[in-house]
Amino acid sequence: MTQVTLLPLLERELGAARVLASDRAARYGQDESNLGSFPPDAVVLAETREEVALVLRLAAERGVPVVPRGAGTGMTGGALATEGGIVLSTERMTRIKEIDRESLIAVVEPGVITGTLQEAVEDLGLFYPPDPASLSMCSLGGNVAENAGGPRAFKYGVTREYVLGLEVVLPGGQVLRPGRRTAKGVTGYDVTALFVGSEGTLGITTEVTLKLLPLPAAVGTLLALFRDVHAASLAVTSIIGAGHRPRALELLDATALDHVRPKSQFPIPPEARAAVLIEVDGEPEAIEPTCVRIGQVCERAGAYEVILAKDEKDRRQLWHARRIVSSSLKEAHRWKLSEDVAVPRGAMPVLIDRVHEIGKRHGLGMASYGHAGDGNLHVNVLSERAREEDGVKDHVRAAVADVFRETLALGGTLSGEHGIGLAKRDYVAWEQAPELIEFQRKLKALCDPQNLLNPGKMLPVGHRE
Ligand code: MLT
Ligand code: ZN
Repeated sequence: MTQVTLLPLLERELGAARVLASDRAARYGQDESNLGSFPPDAVVLAETREEVALVLRLAAERGVPVVPRGAGTGMTGGALATEGGIVLSTERMTRIKEIDRESLIAVVEPGVITGTLQEAVEDLGLFYPPDPASLSMCSLGGNVAENAGGPRAFKYGVTREYVLGLEVVLPGGQVLRPGRRTAKGVTGYDVTALFVGSEGTLGITTEVTLKLLPLPAAVGTLLALFRDVHAASLAVTSIIGAGHRPRALELLDATALDHVRPKSQFPIPPEARAAVLIEVDGEPEAIEPTCVRIGQVCERAGAYEVILAKDEKDRRQLWHARRIVSSSLKEAHRWKLSEDVAVPRGAMPVLIDRVHEIGKRHGLGMASYGHAGDGNLHVNVLSERAREEDGVKDHVRAAVADVFRETLALGGTLSGEHGIGLAKRDYVAWEQAPELIEFQRKLKALCDPQNLLNPGKMLPVGHRE
């Protein structure tokens, strides 16, 4: 190296404690994608914008790849150093620099944990809605890179809707500050939005200016139980069709329910083969009547029982069941591949039926759950055999490809919230036209002419259409 000569230089500039050589970097070789281990040559634990800029400048001078990393909770391999080089972690940049109650703004460093910011603003009667399932662990810089969503996206939208401005360091070390502190603003191209969801391929975020909302005065939660998933998915479209706007509309199929039942904090009857978790917010006096009306819509769609949370404890118990779906499936199966396809909302019932057909056809377990209100379904392909065992990899890959095909045929998209990263990179050309992919390659080359920042992620490599 390049790398070999860069390491002592980084240690001299930043101090040995903040530069981890490969023998201490194992933890940084993995994320939540299950795509394997890619230990980097070195990890830098940056604490300031200047340090991020320095690393990017030195790396550019020596032609060393740099992979940005937030909290490592990504599910598509976006933070894996597949080509070696430096992992630049922003986990130590944890300052909430400002919460402005009058302007409804927070300014944060990228390593702030999402749940920590939420608690801090809620103490002041304010609200930061995006709520990825990993909110107690994931960081806002990672949320910006992936344009993270979550259950509340149905009413409140995803991270992009809350990012007013950014400070980003480009490969080579130049600092850009796109965006604003105002609620409105249309000067120039929307460069802020371009960086949000760019999966750490265009620049490294060192500061985020976020929009806040007033904290809703009251919240109500209910769970509708169904004997079949088709009825449950129709209930979701009926709730929307009846003009309701809950803040979350989550669906769990029979496989998901079977896995959470043993650990659930409330009894989930065995005859429940699907459930829809619904949450509304607003003025206190409107909550109960709204919940009752939504419960009636569910019953008309085939719900045989509707459980209404009467207090905060009940609410937490209902949400606990939803939040442990992913970890319960992971614990129970040697192989779990989690997709996050999205279809236009009305096509959700058809997608659910097709996913079950795909599972049967390939002889694989399939669990479907997630953000049904957004048409965003977590399709999990499950197998008892390890990925190395003969055939299973091909079977799983074929099932996933079928899920993608059906999703795209329904007018959907490969990723509703986890991003493309490494996992879905080679399928992008199924969704996007060659000229659109080429346009994005040009944007990438403009920001990163040496292709050193998170190389090999998000855009298809090798074969040009
Ligand atoms: C979720 O909604 O639970 C997360 O996006 C993770 C997942 O289950 O795939
Ligand atoms: Zn999700």
